[in-house]
Amino acid sequence: MFPVVLVVISLVRVLIARPSMDYLENHFNLANEPKEVRSKAIKRLLEVFGMEDPPLTRGHKQPPQYMLDLYNTVADVDGVTKDPYLLEGNTVRSFFDKLHSEEVEYMFNLSTVAKSERVLTAELHLFKLRPQASVAFNRHHYCQVSVYQILDGGEMNVSQGKKLLSSRLVPIHSNGWEVFTITQAVRSWMSDKSSNLGLLVTVKTLAGSQMDDKVLRFASGRDHHHSKQPMLVLFTDDGRRTASPEINIKDGEASLPFTLPMLPMAGAGRRSPRSLDYDENGEKTACQRQPLYVDFEEIGWSGWIVSPRGYNAYHCKGSCPFPLGQNMRPTNHATVQSIINALKLTKGIDTPCCVPDKLYSINLLYFDDDENVVLKQYDDMVAGSCGCH
Ligand SMILES: *[C@@H]1O[C@H](CO)[C@@H](O)[C@H](O)[C@H]1NC(C)=O
Ligand SMILES: *[C@@H]1O[C@H](CO)[C@@H](O)[C@H](O)[C@H]1NC(C)=O
Repeated sequence: MFPVVLVVISLVRVLIARPSMDYLENHFNLANEPKEVRSKAIKRLLEVFGMEDPPLTRGHKQPPQYMLDLYNTVADVDGVTKDPYLLEGNTVRSFFDKLHSEEVEYMFNLSTVAKSERVLTAELHLFKLRPQASVAFNRHHYCQVSVYQILDGGEMNVSQGKKLLSSRLVPIHSNGWEVFTITQAVRSWMSDKSSNLGLLVTVKTLAGSQMDDKVLRFASGRDHHHSKQPMLVLFTDDGRRTASPEINIKDGEASLPFTLPMLPMAGAGRRSPRSLDYDENGEKTACQRQPLYVDFEEIGWSGWIVSPRGYNAYHCKGSCPFPLGQNMRPTNHATVQSIINALKLTKGIDTPCCVPDKLYSINLLYFDDDENVVLKQYDDMVAGSCGCH
C-alpha cells in the first residue's frame, strides 16, 4: 500500500522538477525528454486517480448542493477522509435528468459508470414544490407518490409496461427533497444499457384516483432553478480500495522511472553522496514527516476538480541510525537490521528506511466527461506518520 503514495510523491517531484532532483537525472536521464516524461508522469498520476484521460473541461455548472454537502461531510478542507466508515463504497455519482419532459418522467444517462462498478444504492432525488395557492386548501393532506421503472412493452408484459420501484405517502403541504430508493432498476440498467427507458412517477390520492397535478408538483429541469433539478445519486464501489501501482503498466513502459517508485523515495537503499538526510547545518535529521503539497492547479487539473484545490500528501525524510528509539516506530525487522548495520556484521546492509507507516485516504469531488459531479475516495494518499522500516 505504500507504493501508491510513493508514486504520487515521486511524480509530483518530477512534475515540479526542481534542480535538486538531479539524482533522478543521474539514474534515468530525464533531461533528454522532459516533455514526454511530463506527459507520461501525468498519465501515471491519472491512473492513480483511476482515470485514463482527464475529463473534458467545459464551462461548468454549479455542482449539486447535495454533492457539496456530502463532500464536506466525508472530507476535511484538505480532502482527507474524516471517517472512513461514513461511505460504504468509494464512489458517489450524481446525474441530472436528460429528458426534461413535461410529464413526471425522467431519464438518466449512466454511460460514464464503469461496467465493473458495483451499485450499492441508487436514489432518485425529487424536489417537491409548495402547492399553488389556489389549491392550498385542498381537502387532501397526503398523497401516494410511486416511482416506476419503464419497461420495454415489446419484450415484457404489455399490459403492465412498468415496474413499481418505490412508493410512499407524502404530505401535500411539505416542500423540499423527496428521496426514493431505486437500486434494483439501476442494477438492471447497468447489466443491460438498452433496458434504460427511464422512470415514471405517479401521484395519487389515498383513494387511488389521479391527483390534480397542480396540487403536488416536483421541480423539473425545464421550468425550475437548476438547484432543484431531478437527480439520480449512485453509491458505488469500483473495487480499487487496495489498488496497487502495478495495474495498467504495460510491458513496453517497464523502463520508465515510475515503475520503480521505491528507488528515489526509499532513500537509504541507494544513498547518493549528496544525501537528502542532512539539514542545512549538515546535521543528520532523524526520520520524520514533512509537508509535501500536491497542487492540482500546478498539475493543470483545476478545470475539472471541484474540491480540494490540492492536498498535503506529506513525505517521510530523515535517517534511521542505531539505536532506533520507539519514536522512530521501528519494526522488529528494522531494529535487527539497524543492529546488523551498526555492528557491521554483514557487508552491504544499510540502515532501515524512513517510510510512511500509516496512510490516509483523500476525497476528490470532480466533473466527469458527461459533466456529472462525482465524489471518489482514494486510499493510501496521505502519509499519516513515518517510521523506520
Ligand atoms: C449517453 O451519453 C453518452 C456520452 O455523453 C452518449 O454518447 C450517449 O449517446 C448517451 N446515451 C443516451 C441514451 O442519450
Ligand atoms: C402480465 O400481466 C397480467 C396483468 O397484470 C398478469 O395477470 C400476468 O400474470 C402477467 N404475466 C406475466 C408473464 O408477468
